[in-house]
Amino acid sequence: MGFSMWLMVGIFVVVCIPLVYAMIRFRERRGETGLPPQFEGNHTVEIVWTVIPILLLVVLAIPTFRDAFVLASPPAGSDPLQVTVVGHQWWWEFDYNGQQIVTADEMHIPTGRVVTLTLKSADVLHSFWVPGLAGKEDTVPNIDNTLWLKADQPGTYPGQCAEFCGSSHSLMRFDVVAQSPSDFQAWVAGMQHPNVTPTTTAAQAGEKLFEQYQCGSCHTVDGTKANGTKAPNLTNLGERQIIAGGALENTPADLVQWITDAGKIMPDTIMPAFALSDQQLNDLTAYLEGLQPQR
Ligand code: CUA
Repeated sequence: MGFSMWLMVGIFVVVCIPLVYAMIRFRERRGETGLPPQFEGNHTVEIVWTVIPILLLVVLAIPTFRDAFVLASPPAGSDPLQVTVVGHQWWWEFDYNGQQIVTADEMHIPTGRVVTLTLKSADVLHSFWVPGLAGKEDTVPNIDNTLWLKADQPGTYPGQCAEFCGSSHSLMRFDVVAQSPSDFQAWVAGMQHPNVTPTTTAAQAGEKLFEQYQCGSCHTVDGTKANGTKAPNLTNLGERQIIAGGALENTPADLVQWITDAGKIMPDTIMPAFALSDQQLNDLTAYLEGLQPQR
């Protein structure tokens, strides 16, 4: 990087010196009229200004190719966290290999540690893109792609599907939440020990509605009978910032919008619209927002 930049700075200076000289030396002077002497066709000059750029491109290509291959793999000796990312129409699934953690919309990672991603697709082409952390990589049905990234600073890094994948492509967002290693461990522990026993009357009624409407045939809530995999895993849903592939905030009001008419928010989603009373919506959102880690 530095080599290429300083090489280009050198060329810039070498070009600018004769340019500025020519602008001053050959400017139009008072009393001069007509065109200055014209000439065209000089083989020596043409060969020189063709060959020099070719040589420069060759010199630039060597470190570029070398570094591109080096950067494709994580640094040797890193102990990467492995996550399988699955693109779905229109949400992202994050499966923490071997840790019994599956989540959606928000991928938590520890800062300072390499994360290697195996990228898959459940349906069509998508492209996993977190501009603040790494380049784009497609998710392709039946093909596993890989990508690695590392966050040096804690924070929320927005991501977006970067390959047109259907009517709600532009709504296929997600966040990467980078946390200090200790905060990340706390998140892992919370995901492995969700509290699934509703405590309020509303949440208890909401849990019954969740079962009655068979939400668990598409959604999973770890620790309950709900084990569907067609739709986002809702374990500890209450601690997420976003829902619906990032189209909505995780608030009771936004959850109500999603449950009552998801297709209005995200055209062609497989999430059906549910006609529920205000009381039922209140109970169901109380249950869902109450899905929190054990504390
Ligand atoms: Cu998924 Cu665009």
